[in-house]
Amino acid sequence: MINTKKLNHISIHIIMFIVFGYVLTCGGAIHAQSLEPDPLLLEIESIYRGDKDYKQLPFVLEDPYKRSKNGPTLKNVVYKANKEWLKKWIDNPSAMIPNARMPRLMLSSEDIDAVLAYLESIADSSFPKQQWEAGLLKAEDDMTDDEYENMEELVSGGKAIWGRARCNICHPVKGKGGAVGVGPDLGRLAEKINRDWLYLWIKEPRGYFHETQMPRYRFEEDELRKLVEYLMQDWDFKPDEDEDKDGDDETVEVVADEGPLLVHEGTLAERGKKIIEFNRCFVCHEIEGISELLPIKSQKSENETTNKFEKLLNDIRCMTCHNIQGHGGSFAPELTHEGSKLKGEWIKGFIETPDIIRPLLKQMPKFNLTSEEAQTGADFIEEYFVSDEFDLGSFANVNPTEEEINKGKELYEAKGCKACHTIQVGGIVGPNLKRVGDRMENGFIFFHLKDPHHETPDAVEPNYNLSDEEATALTHYLMSCKDEK
Ligand code: HEC
Ligand code: HEC
Ligand code: HEC
Ligand code: HEC
Repeated sequence: MINTKKLNHISIHIIMFIVFGYVLTCGGAIHAQSLEPDPLLLEIESIYRGDKDYKQLPFVLEDPYKRSKNGPTLKNVVYKANKEWLKKWIDNPSAMIPNARMPRLMLSSEDIDAVLAYLESIADSSFPKQQWEAGLLKAEDDMTDDEYENMEELVSGGKAIWGRARCNICHPVKGKGGAVGVGPDLGRLAEKINRDWLYLWIKEPRGYFHETQMPRYRFEEDELRKLVEYLMQDWDFKPDEDEDKDGDDETVEVVADEGPLLVHEGTLAERGKKIIEFNRCFVCHEIEGISELLPIKSQKSENETTNKFEKLLNDIRCMTCHNIQGHGGSFAPELTHEGSKLKGEWIKGFIETPDIIRPLLKQMPKFNLTSEEAQTGADFIEEYFVSDEFDLGSFANVNPTEEEINKGKELYEAKGCKACHTIQVGGIVGPNLKRVGDRMENGFIFFHLKDPHHETPDAVEPNYNLSDEEATALTHYLMSCKDEK
């Protein structure tokens, strides 16, 4: 059988590619004349979208992967990173961070000084500062015993918070972790980042960089301070002794060719501006005062966002990990139909305090949502992330007898489901089914068993071609797998 779903998926990518290419090459012209896209393109798109049963949402989804600039804003970067680090970074990004995406631009050290002078000139002079206990700002050797003990205590508290928050799911540290595939390696954070900035960043990432992919955790003040201390002081976030000198060895003397070095006139900052323009840093960075080739799409401000779920979605950046209606990442389960698959009450509990269903690398972080926020999330998912395809009614009020349950249990053993799923014991290839009766809509369990590949075409679960009777028995058994209270 040809897998039409997958084909469509690929086709959409091809169409998007064509559309984007078209917009990029003719973008200027389209913009000047009219905002109507070519009717032919619309028609092609509707053909490929026709069979998707997406429910219309009350707002437009903001895809964290389709940001106007790939790199972070440089407006206040001089408050974020120390100057020595910035110099080395612009000189050779991948010598500083193993997973750097910024290309090496071969600027001379004079050019780099000029660029930094420009970045300094656009920075916000009222960038907020924090108060820190004096002892924490001393070098370790200068701390009194009490100060050292205090610091150690904060650091170990911070380490526990780091673990619970699963920061490592996005951020590798010295090459380890980072399963989601976004976020810089933090293994040398302490030599780069200013602690005032760090505090504000973790507190409110979008306050600094509106289009960031990083979630805003709801940390208490003391949690925040512990986390900052851990990141600033622990050896995990300092360069290993032997890689200390690496950067310098690799510095290549840049020979002046035509171009940036011809810029001699003006103040240092003015020259820096010209160098930035010449090197097109603005293709990847928002930099104040630099003229743009293409108009930037206007951003919706926080105040214009009225839907509570939209706010949550943007704040926690759910779509950095989850896909919704074809937008966002693909690391975590797609949410498009989760309302029809999962029970509302379970969703609320889960997003508030994520339970363990899948193996370690696939667990959702705890963002410390309030009960009200979790309810908002669950209600929205139940209302909008649904599909008519699943017949949830037929099992809605079913109360299977002991005998029916046992019949399903025998089938579960006989079919070898245990190889991949755990109820009491079993494998970890598929999700844990211990509480599947609390978690999944009964009707969806049946639907899934009849056609395991319907929702996830490339899933490894075999299609057992179960009869309705067998699938019903298994459904009855799985419905009974609940938390014993
Ligand atoms: C969903 C993925 C994700 C999670 C989870 C996450 N981050 Fe981030 N973080 C990012 C991304 C992506 C960036 C870079 C900015 C951007 O491109 O949006 C970033 C940037 C940072 C930076 C700045 C690093 C630099 O060199 O610029 C720090 C520090 C940081 N995160 C700390 C944390 C901490 C601490 C946690 C856990 C409490 C955490 N992050 C959880 C995605 C994540
Ligand atoms: C092709 C895209 C691209 C270009 C061109 C580019 N950068 Fe970057 N830059 C990035 C990305 C992406 C990052 C984020 C770190 C990473 O993943 O590499 C970054 C990070 C930075 C940082 C560190 C910012 C932070 O918050 O940590 C600075 C400073 C910077 N770039 C300056 C420049 C300057 C100056 C130029 C032009 C001379 C430039 N970049 C050109 C993509 C680019
Ligand atoms: C850092 C990545 C990440 C972010 C951000 C994230 N999630 Fe998740 N989420 C996951 C992972 C991984 C799982 C799978 C957990 C498991 O199976 O143990 C998951 C599971 C879920 C599930 C259960 C899905 C299922 O079928 O088991 C729901 C519902 C959910 N997330 C909703 C949300 C919402 C709503 C947000 C934003 C408020 C969000 N998530 C933000 C990673 C993330
Ligand atoms: C080869 C491994 C494998 C076998 C054998 C297997 N499954 Fe699965 N199963 C999976 C995987 C992987 C998923 C997750 C698919 C997805 O993400 O959509 C899954 C999903 C499920 C789900 C939905 C749970 C959820 O959270 O999405 C149920 C219910 C289920 N399986 C029941 C069964 C039953 C009953 C059997 C035996 C008749 C069985 N499975 C056999 C791998 C397996």
